Amino acid sequence: MIAAVGDGPAASITGLGSRVPDRVVTNDDLAQYVDTSDEWIVERTGIRERRMAAPEEALSDLALPAARDALEQAGVAGEDLDLIIVASVTPDMTFPSTGAILADRLGAAGAAAYDLSAGCTGFMYGIAQAYGMIAGGLASRALVVGGDILSRILDWTDRSTLVLFGDGAGAVVIEPSSTPGFLGFDLGVDGAGGSSLWLPGSGSRLVSEPEKYVKMNGREVFKFATRILVQSARDVLARCGATIDDVDLYIPHQANMRIIEHATRKLGLPSERVVINVDRYGNTSSGSIPLALADAARDGRLRPGRLVLMTGMGAGLTWGSALLRWTKEMAA
Ligand code: ACO
Repeated sequence: MIAAVGDGPAASITGLGSRVPDRVVTNDDLAQYVDTSDEWIVERTGIRERRMAAPEEALSDLALPAARDALEQAGVAGEDLDLIIVASVTPDMTFPSTGAILADRLGAAGAAAYDLSAGCTGFMYGIAQAYGMIAGGLASRALVVGGDILSRILDWTDRSTLVLFGDGAGAVVIEPSSTPGFLGFDLGVDGAGGSSLWLPGSGSRLVSEPEKYVKMNGREVFKFATRILVQSARDVLARCGATIDDVDLYIPHQANMRIIEHATRKLGLPSERVVINVDRYGNTSSGSIPLALADAARDGRLRPGRLVLMTGMGAGLTWGSALLRWTKEMAA
């Protein structure tokens, strides 16, 4: 699915919030569980540390404060929301949805609320859905959360996955705007690649063989990631009549520093236009792009008028890009 929406109803991000757990887990900490080293992890992934949730912390415990910050920045009360989308593969539980839990905690009595599963691309699917509902007149104040507590589904004996992931969540408020914010989206899936990154015994298929942990073919995902980050970015830019030189800020999914460097080089973007948090947070799945947006707001790089390109990729195998003109003045 690809579309330029800049001539349609205008909607934009008006509030932003994020949360990571307090607990910092270093590469040396993980080397106590599996045969790995800080040197290997930094060289192959760029990850130096990640955050991991406390045993009693669930996704909504991160999502709720992130959502409250986003709402406060937007000047929107919880009761005024008419849509809540939570993109995650690690909701508090299968049902009720974490969207429903947030609706209750935020007092959003008039909102539709649900969870969305698109792997690490979930946040990109979520903002595209929210835009579509606003453009279609179904909603006017949407909250989109992207977040995961992937540490709960990691195999602590598998060095090839354990070192890659971390926990975190980000939230945005999306509202109609006077000038175009979102300009276009590109969303897609290659279902044939599903078994490159999966949790096969986690649903209705293998109920007699429950499988609690992520399985990944790292090389296949690496090949997919390096190809799709470049392809999807080029596609959405072309559809919107923009070029890479127009992009002020590039926010790729934070899976691996080598994947980000490859995409950045191929696209021809200078490194100062790229937002990176994988070194501090690891791959936070659906949380990675909203966390990076929040980082860019804090360091002053998100300013009204700037053209922002975001591309996610993940389990499915899915991908999703959005091009938007930032419209909101952010407090540094
Ligand atoms: N520590 C030390 N050695 C390790 C580790 C580790 N943590 N993990 C693997 N190795 C070993 C392997 O066993 C292998 O050893 P061998 O040569 O004796 O067989 C060696 O290191 C090289 O393994 P490769 O898989 O070839 O290493 P590579 O350079 O490809 O890096 C990595 C592996 C980091 C997983 C890379 O393939 C990758 O980043 N893939 C994409 C992963 C990803 O992005 N996943 C999530 C994306 S989607 C989402 O966000 C959910």
